[in-house]
Amino acid sequence: MDELVIARSLFGMTMGVHIIYATLGVGLPFMVLIAELMYQKTKDKDYALMANRWTKGFAVLLGVAIPTGTIAGVQLSLLWPGFMEVVGRVIALPFQIEIYAFFLEALFMSIYVYAADRLSPIMRIVSVTLVAFGASASAILITNVHAFQGTPDGFEIVDGKFVNIDPWEAFFNRSFFITAGHVTVSALMTGAFVIASIAAYKMIRQRGNTREYKFHHKALMMGLVIGGIFSLLTSLNGHESAQQLYQYQPEKLAAAEGLFETQRYAPLAIGGYTDKEEREVKWAIEVPWALSFLSDDAFDTEVLGLEEWPEEEWPPLFVHTLFNSMVGIGSLLLLLSIVGFTWYKILKRKKFPRWLMWGFIATGPLAMTAIEFGWIFACTGRQPWIIYHVMKTEEAVTTSGNIGLLFVLFLIVYIILMISTVLVLRYYFNRNPISEELDQ
Ligand code: HEM
Repeated sequence: MDELVIARSLFGMTMGVHIIYATLGVGLPFMVLIAELMYQKTKDKDYALMANRWTKGFAVLLGVAIPTGTIAGVQLSLLWPGFMEVVGRVIALPFQIEIYAFFLEALFMSIYVYAADRLSPIMRIVSVTLVAFGASASAILITNVHAFQGTPDGFEIVDGKFVNIDPWEAFFNRSFFITAGHVTVSALMTGAFVIASIAAYKMIRQRGNTREYKFHHKALMMGLVIGGIFSLLTSLNGHESAQQLYQYQPEKLAAAEGLFETQRYAPLAIGGYTDKEEREVKWAIEVPWALSFLSDDAFDTEVLGLEEWPEEEWPPLFVHTLFNSMVGIGSLLLLLSIVGFTWYKILKRKKFPRWLMWGFIATGPLAMTAIEFGWIFACTGRQPWIIYHVMKTEEAVTTSGNIGLLFVLFLIVYIILMISTVLVLRYYFNRNPISEELDQ
């Protein structure tokens, strides 16, 4: 098989695994912070217990996020030497600053985990805030390299050489703020829905009105409210991300929408699949004029179609399905949280019907699926470029062989890591059941 395909598959697999841990590494500390704040406000010990148990789960996940992140860093240099040369010269700042963000997170994580009982309420809040801040800053800094890949700024190319390099301009590249926002709010939303999922799963296996049921009910409501707020923010910010594609990566937007012909009053294709031969999106629901309006707030906006670029520069057309699925999941999750909130707070119904409970159980896995789809869409949608209109992916790939063997070895490592994570979490929470901790 082509070395480029294997290199992309290996790196894609590494990122696909790492992103699960990294996303929860941002989302869970935030939920711990909310639980801490709720505890300080209400003095209800259930919230302190939630903060304590979620921190234990987060610590396990952080333990796996660190090696998978390190592997990703090593693979970047091994698989993409051409790209890393540019990173080293132009966009090294995020990697350098990230060390401090990680240091902050790890330091205050240790303080919070080992000394929470001895800290004053305000210091508990400060510690966990700094953990959440460090985790989010790490994620924003690293994904800023991805933002730079889409909107490379801060240098000029003269006679094939990178000159007039301005590292801060590269750092604050055109998509820095919007990408940082989308990555952060979608991770916070995912953390909240994972909590909601687990709580709903525990509730469905219990009879109502037990002490344990009420505990999980509080966690579920917290997950749904925070998840709902952040899914709204994710959609709003996602709209900005799409407008940014219209401006800076128009062929990615054309592929996302399966738009072949350049046109004003362009329709939005929802669902269906892109048929390359017939040059249309089959089975889609078309909303007239909507793509033009969403792209630049005016119905007569001209949206460029794929016909503007040679076919070898088209992104893979399956990104339409990924884009639609990400947006669809985001909308469904927002709807589920609104229904849950209305059911409990406005209609004042004490119990949720079983179908809705299954919907809540699905929220965490669905949010994580949207995260994976979002990343695959953003990265494969940029192909064939590793740095948009500057360097092709095939120019950056390593020329040393044996990547196929590495792929198989890493596949085994990741399977072991994922199974071990589940086993360790199950072992810990089975040995420390909530029923015992509630009685203490
Ligand atoms: C609901 C409406 C949403 C819209 C309109 C939207 C839009 C977008 C767009 C246009 C991109 C590509 C950005 C680029 O390539 O530069 C993107 C990427 C991404 N999306 Fe979404 N998205 C939405 C929902 C979600 C949801 C629900 C999640 C996950 C829970 C999510 C997670 C991601 C991730 C992780 C990326 C890759 C990082 C990035 O490039 O920003 N998105 N999204």
